[in-house]
Amino acid sequence: MSYLEATTDLYKEAALAPDVGLCCTTNPVWQFPGLAIPDIMLEMNYGCGSTVSAQDLVNDPKVLYVGVGGGMELLQFAYFSRQKGGVTGVDVVDEMLAASRENLKLAEQKNDWFKSEYVDLVKGNAMNLPIEDESIDVAAQNCLFNIFKKEDLQKAIAEMYRVLKPHGRLVMSDPICEQPMNETLRNDDKLRALCLSGSIPLKQYVKMLTDAGFGTIEIRAKRSYRVLSPNHYPTDELIHIESIEIAAIKDPMPEDGPCVFTGKTAIYFGNEEYFDDKKGHVLVQNQPIAVCDKTAAALARESDDIFVSESTWHYNGGGCC
Ligand SMILES: C[S@@+](CC[C@H](N)C(=O)[O-])C[C@H]1O[C@@H](n2cnc3c(N)ncnc32)[C@H](O)[C@@H]1O
Repeated sequence: MSYLEATTDLYKEAALAPDVGLCCTTNPVWQFPGLAIPDIMLEMNYGCGSTVSAQDLVNDPKVLYVGVGGGMELLQFAYFSRQKGGVTGVDVVDEMLAASRENLKLAEQKNDWFKSEYVDLVKGNAMNLPIEDESIDVAAQNCLFNIFKKEDLQKAIAEMYRVLKPHGRLVMSDPICEQPMNETLRNDDKLRALCLSGSIPLKQYVKMLTDAGFGTIEIRAKRSYRVLSPNHYPTDELIHIESIEIAAIKDPMPEDGPCVFTGKTAIYFGNEEYFDDKKGHVLVQNQPIAVCDKTAAALARESDDIFVSESTWHYNGGGCC
């Protein structure tokens, strides 16, 4: 049995018998005014972090969500895209699609504003999406891509890139891991399916996105996720796994390379009113401005009167690239 089959088997079981805490964290779940999330959706929250951000969801966007789980994030996206077929959920597991459909019916009873027809549920594979080219404003996945091995991950990212409109956003939440993992862990299909042994370092994750063509990357959150300890897992050392929330935007690739925002800020503290690097970056004296890592490095090189902060791993837009 391949690791992909082991994954679909695991989520078939998780659809038939919801397993609280199966592969998720205990992050607080977004609540919005007038939104009532059915308990079963909370029990079937098999993600880490959130992919739903109001900032991405203006003007009734067309949303694609791959790997539907119990449907909680489908409902949260529909909150912002209240139109027939505004959200499309794709999953390869029939039982998960069926569970999600049932849960959305419950959500309809609990929420006056929600109609099940806002969400289309479609059978399909992340590596071969049944979605038209350039038809989606916001594509999302939560805790699925970390399971994929490199070639499959490349295909899944390429598919997301294909279906997004120009300037569309791919928003994701996934575990990452900066430590090397041994082959026993890597090749354990069940641990991989449980989002415990497939994760890669953040730099590699970002590179796979920029290699696919995404010109802007935003790291929106980074937090601890799990540890794999020698007394519970086949490892000699304690392995720390983190989870990230990240957006990859289908902007054209800048000539000098992608803009990767990791939460750095630049502040000019010289004697002039402002600092202008004549390349599009104007820093008013003592006003913080969010900058991508490329610009942060360039500004630090250009002037001794500019303070550049460390990455906070928390970026919510704005600033300059
Ligand atoms: C870890 S769960 C995450 C569910 C949901 N995103 C959440 O946050 O609760 C992974 C989901 O991806 C689905 N899945 C597994 N392999 C898939 C594939 N190759 N293509 C599409 N969906 C897949 C599973 O059925 C399951 O719904």
